[in-house]
Amino acid sequence: MEVKLAKSAGFCFGVKRAVETVYEQIEKQKASDKKLPIFTYGPIIHNEQVVKDLEEKGVRVLNGRKELEAVREGIVVIRSHGIGKEICQLIEEKGLVCVDATCPFVKRIHNIVEQESTKGKQILIIGNAGHPEVEGIKGWCAVPAIVVESEEDIKKLKEDTGKEVCIVSQTTFNYNKFQYLVEILKKSGYNGSVVNTICNATEERQTEAREIASEADVMIVIGGAHSSNTRKLYEICSKECAQTCFIQSLADLELELSESVRLVGITAGASTPNNIIREVQSYVRNEF
Ligand code: F3S
Repeated sequence: MEVKLAKSAGFCFGVKRAVETVYEQIEKQKASDKKLPIFTYGPIIHNEQVVKDLEEKGVRVLNGRKELEAVREGIVVIRSHGIGKEICQLIEEKGLVCVDATCPFVKRIHNIVEQESTKGKQILIIGNAGHPEVEGIKGWCAVPAIVVESEEDIKKLKEDTGKEVCIVSQTTFNYNKFQYLVEILKKSGYNGSVVNTICNATEERQTEAREIASEADVMIVIGGAHSSNTRKLYEICSKECAQTCFIQSLADLELELSESVRLVGITAGASTPNNIIREVQSYVRNEF
């Protein structure tokens, strides 16, 4: 039996950078006289193990604006998802140190929507309403943005089609679905510019997962229960491989492999640390 691990499994560039930023800040503060407390605005990644390890090192998670308002001093690290302009301003007004680890690909979207909405365009975001990245993007629009995730959402739109739009996407959105929804928007009369802001890391990971799952008898998708990019990987793999399982770590894996199983595929979401992936990989290799 062969075990095939996706090359693109695990931390993407932006997540790796954000996590490393927090660990760097811990070291810096250890060495400094001030020893400022360190906070992250929201969990730095969708991975309980990493968040717990940081907590043990004294890093506190701020869950929303209210908790940020209560902070008197310290360093606030912004995670790769980014935040809205208002939160940036609040950090500044409070005199806190802002260490911005927003992924440059997300920052690019902030810049686009800020510029285009200032020019008077209606911003349309294709993504999951309520996802922190989408909330952050909305927070850079000069006028309220519209978020659509499905054909039904587009049907419900009451926006005037005469207004020029600028369509962007959440970085982790499914590329085929994005193209499909753009077509529907155009057919519904919305005209303007379309900027494909889906991150390459996501596209690569989704394409590779689809390829492996189409050959595999069993497919394992590793990632946090709240990670939207992992859930999408699971969706993609399930379509190709009937026996696809979604686990957070090796502890969740309940695998029964019949003799006929020839290939087990493994992939993982952007917030899955390498050690968890390696653990699952060696378990499947050695136990079966
Ligand atoms: Fe950035 Fe892409 Fe990762 S947008 S956070 S490199 S999935």
